[in-house]
Amino acid sequence: MAFEFELIATDGRARAGILHTPHGDIPTPCFAPVGTQATVKAVPPRDLTELNASLVLANTYHLHLRPGEDLVQQMGGLHEFMQWNGPILTDSGGFQVFSLTQINKIDDEGVTFRSHIDGSQRRLTPESSMAIQQALGADIIMAFDQCPPPKDRETVEKAVARTHNWAARCREAHPYDDKQALFGIVQGGIFQDLRAQSAEFIQSLDLKGYAIGGLAVGESKAEQYETLDFTLPLMPNNRPRYLMGVGDPDDLCEAITRGIDIFDCVIPTRLARHGAAFTFDGRINMKNARFKDDPNPLILDEAFKSYSQNFSRAYLRHLMIAKELLGYYLLSLNNIAFLITHVQNMRQAIIEGRLAEYTQTFLQRYLGRSQ
Ligand code: GUN
Repeated sequence: MAFEFELIATDGRARAGILHTPHGDIPTPCFAPVGTQATVKAVPPRDLTELNASLVLANTYHLHLRPGEDLVQQMGGLHEFMQWNGPILTDSGGFQVFSLTQINKIDDEGVTFRSHIDGSQRRLTPESSMAIQQALGADIIMAFDQCPPPKDRETVEKAVARTHNWAARCREAHPYDDKQALFGIVQGGIFQDLRAQSAEFIQSLDLKGYAIGGLAVGESKAEQYETLDFTLPLMPNNRPRYLMGVGDPDDLCEAITRGIDIFDCVIPTRLARHGAAFTFDGRINMKNARFKDDPNPLILDEAFKSYSQNFSRAYLRHLMIAKELLGYYLLSLNNIAFLITHVQNMRQAIIEGRLAEYTQTFLQRYLGRSQ
């Protein structure tokens, strides 16, 4: 059945499951690379399939401004348009209008802002976000929310109230069917009572999945983990739980241990554009002189599979120093493959009841020493 969430195994609070969607099954925990403008930057869908990506994220805000949802719909919808036939999730635009635009007015009805592309005045409301996401045609769509700075209690209180009102309107505007599932977003910053209030309200809407928003936006890692500690037990067991915008390898360990099933983050492709690469021994700067004549592949573990493994560190360094496009592509492949492999390893560890051991070994190596 579409959007049924099957729990396969648990290990402490951590879960391994499968989320069924009309475009295929998503084994969870799952890391979704971000394709903001209907492309995961520099990475063709063919490679995403090879890297075992099981979910791709795209953005309502960007696609609404350019090329517009009508065009995407006319071209057969987002899957057809971008030639990715696996599951897609679109974010609602809530987060992007606050982080990318100059806001002109935010009121209970919606948000008026200036486009970051041409400065034109635009407006998004819960209803228009639902209509745009319906036209784009992703498998999973997100409620329109307000993501406040996480530690300013007064602002967070107002954002929670507004997010609830907007979520109820999204639910009204999108009585979900078997083709497209609406997920709600829990806000509340780092405040336990507000998270509790938000978790309770959002799940009263009886949606197909629930996200935690408003994290990784200015709080410390300790505050982020503590917020997960008190919020996750308040969320339903029988629905997928999605932590928005988180993708640091160590954060993935901490959040999966606490019961998160789905993640998305721009970090693998953004880091690649800055010449940085994930390895099991920590993040490295590929332009560093110490790689000048290093004949090894980027990741030293033989089990690690990615086309980028065919090339030496010396060559990758040369490409990055010379600003060659192939360098950005290969580092993007490496970084996406790394996060997907890391999350897949954790899934297997959950199934085998040894997640704590895996994360301890991983974290010791990843954070413990530099190469
Ligand atoms: N991406 C990262 N954080 C958030 C959030 O709080 N809300 C939405 N809509 N998207 C996000």
